[in-house]
Amino acid sequence: MPLTGGGRVKTPKRLLPLVEEGLIDEVISQLMSGKEATVYVVRSGDSTRCAKVYKDAKQRSFRQAASYREGRKVKNSREARAIEKGSRYGREVQEQHWQNAEVDALFRLANAGVRVPQPYICTDGVLLMELVTDADGNVAPRLNDVDMSEARAVELHARLLNEVVRMLCAGVIHGDLSEYNILLAEDGPVIIDLPQAVDAAGNLEAPAMLERDVDNLAAYFGRFAPHLLSANYGKEIWALFEGGGLHPEVQLTGQIELDTTPVDLDAVLQELEDTRLEEEARVRHEQSLREGG
Ligand SMILES: Nc1ncnc2c1ncn2[C@@H]1O[C@H](COP(=O)(O)OP(=O)(O)OP(=O)(O)O)[C@@H](O)[C@H]1O
Ligand SMILES: [Mg+2]
Repeated sequence: MPLTGGGRVKTPKRLLPLVEEGLIDEVISQLMSGKEATVYVVRSGDSTRCAKVYKDAKQRSFRQAASYREGRKVKNSREARAIEKGSRYGREVQEQHWQNAEVDALFRLANAGVRVPQPYICTDGVLLMELVTDADGNVAPRLNDVDMSEARAVELHARLLNEVVRMLCAGVIHGDLSEYNILLAEDGPVIIDLPQAVDAAGNLEAPAMLERDVDNLAAYFGRFAPHLLSANYGKEIWALFEGGGLHPEVQLTGQIELDTTPVDLDAVLQELEDTRLEEEARVRHEQSLREGG
């Protein structure tokens, strides 16, 4: 998509505070308006950037499902109580947490070497970040909007699996990864849209979410490279993560060992103990027979 269409757009109300604060000099165009945000191309000094304006909480019920909030710790107890009660203040606090979650995840992932848009600031309900562009300098297309050969699909799939691994090594699961939330930039795929990202530790839904993200990738790239559909990378990655063997250079096979469930040590010990008691009882019984007879 070309960056400019001639005339600039009138500054949207929600971007005025950032213009006043000197964070944005000019609004170039509106990129799109989705369910949860409206995205603009803006100019800040010499740089062209992307401004994501979050919509009200009411309009994004689905991704606020409890599973996403689970494990997202609210450290301030007054805030935690307010959220619990669902008061107006509580909703504002929750809103703040939701918006900060995306910028927090972006900083964390960018620092871990995951290819995400470089974040700059999140203020007044607006996230200011790098505008992802293609080789011609235009706004990068979503993965869903590009056609590709089988070889390219295999290559991109492998790169994105590696990104998922890197994310998990940084303790983050995207939670809504799909061909709609990946842009194809000049330097390769870029993962976007992270307000629902979850902490891998301390979330019971984490393995299921990771598997779903990974399955979404397989389903999409499987359209161009059908053999990707039969692999099982999600379970493999999670098993490595749980076993402490996950690192960014890990070689994935797409296969999982037949039995990856950890040994239940208590059950094994109980079994040994039971056998021992049985044996003792048998010996006692034999002894009593001998003594009696
Ligand atoms: N940093 C960026 N650079 C270029 N384009 C972007 C960037 N961030 C978002 N976009 C564009 O804006 C669209 C919406 O962004 P995003 O997915 O973050 O918001 P959303 O409200 O969750 O959208 P949706 O409801 O469609 O998932 C993206 O599909 C992409 O086309
Ligand atoms: Mg999106």
